[in-house]
Amino acid sequence: MKQNIVILGSTGQVGWAITKELDSFFQVITMNRENTPFERRNVLKANIRDILYTETPSHIVNAAAFTNVDGSEENKELAFLINAFALQDIVDEINLYNLTKKRKTSLIHFSTDYVFDGESIEENFPTDKTNPINVYGRSKALGETIIKKSGVPYLILRTSWVISPFRKNFLKTMVKKIMKGLPIEVVDDQYGAPTSAKYIASFINHYLRNEKFSAIGGLHHICGLGNTTWFDFAKFILDNLKNKKPELVKEKIDIKPIKTSSLKLAAKRPKNSKLNCDSLSTIFEFEQIDWQTQVLNTLNTMITEEHLD
Ligand SMILES: NC(=O)c1ccc[n+]([C@@H]2O[C@H](COP(=O)([O-])OP(=O)(O)OC[C@H]3O[C@@H](n4cnc5c(N)ncnc54)[C@H](OP(=O)(O)O)[C@@H]3O)[C@@H](O)[C@H]2O)c1
Repeated sequence: MKQNIVILGSTGQVGWAITKELDSFFQVITMNRENTPFERRNVLKANIRDILYTETPSHIVNAAAFTNVDGSEENKELAFLINAFALQDIVDEINLYNLTKKRKTSLIHFSTDYVFDGESIEENFPTDKTNPINVYGRSKALGETIIKKSGVPYLILRTSWVISPFRKNFLKTMVKKIMKGLPIEVVDDQYGAPTSAKYIASFINHYLRNEKFSAIGGLHHICGLGNTTWFDFAKFILDNLKNKKPELVKEKIDIKPIKTSSLKLAAKRPKNSKLNCDSLSTIFEFEQIDWQTQVLNTLNTMITEEHLD
């Protein structure tokens, strides 16, 4: 019999990719903002309780989050509610349920490179001290703490610069600007690595299908192998779009490097948010993929499945 896996935030980049990836191997039950809005805590609690007892899932995957980094500065309460306090409700319900069960339900959750201040010149390791410099990062760091302290078996995966053929992300924004021939300015002083939602989903599938891995849990990092800046990432997108679909690229399009300080963004950004992901291979025997391949694969899907709008 297939294991039941519940996915919260199934309409997001990561939630959607996981839902698709797990579909053939597990009984996937999706929940979304419409039926389970995190800000309505009584509804959230009741729905989590209900799904635990009716579906007896082995894992609940939480891919829901308030992901608007600048918007979090203005909507601090909402960011903390969705990225942190709602998690208390979820773990409380799982704990109550687990009290009477031999096989415990575990929680898989996603966090962010923005829990770090980005001042280190080295990669950020899962064991490094967090020191978020914006509201989004602080709300996500508190979410991690709530889960870690809860006693619920968990896997927390911090990721960075997520891309997918759907929704809003840097890859999609760049492709649209390139196709419209708009002037493009991109910061060249923030370092990190793009990560495709599909890559995250394939790790979750690998993790769930091998009991020796899913019994491990803990806090780990997942992002593309290698390191880049947003500026070099943008140039990579332009070069490859030119290569694959020259007819889509307006002539003389150029990308200008700028500094983060010139953007006057509401939220501060960490300078170096590169995550060290060694544990993916050393602990979970998962084959890591470089960020360029992940971007190319996502771009190919956007082109072949016509998701360029
Ligand atoms: N995107 C990135 O670059 C990035 C980087 C590092 C870490 N992460 C983390 O990775 C995870 C997945 O991110 P993502 O890129 O897939 O995010 P996303 O595309 O913005 O999706 C967020 C999901 O959360 C749902 N959601 C938002 N507010 C909600 C609410 N009040 N109640 C219930 N559901 C709500 C959204 O529903 P709707 O479809 O209705 O909006 C959507 O399903 C998050 O934990 C995020 O913090 C993302």
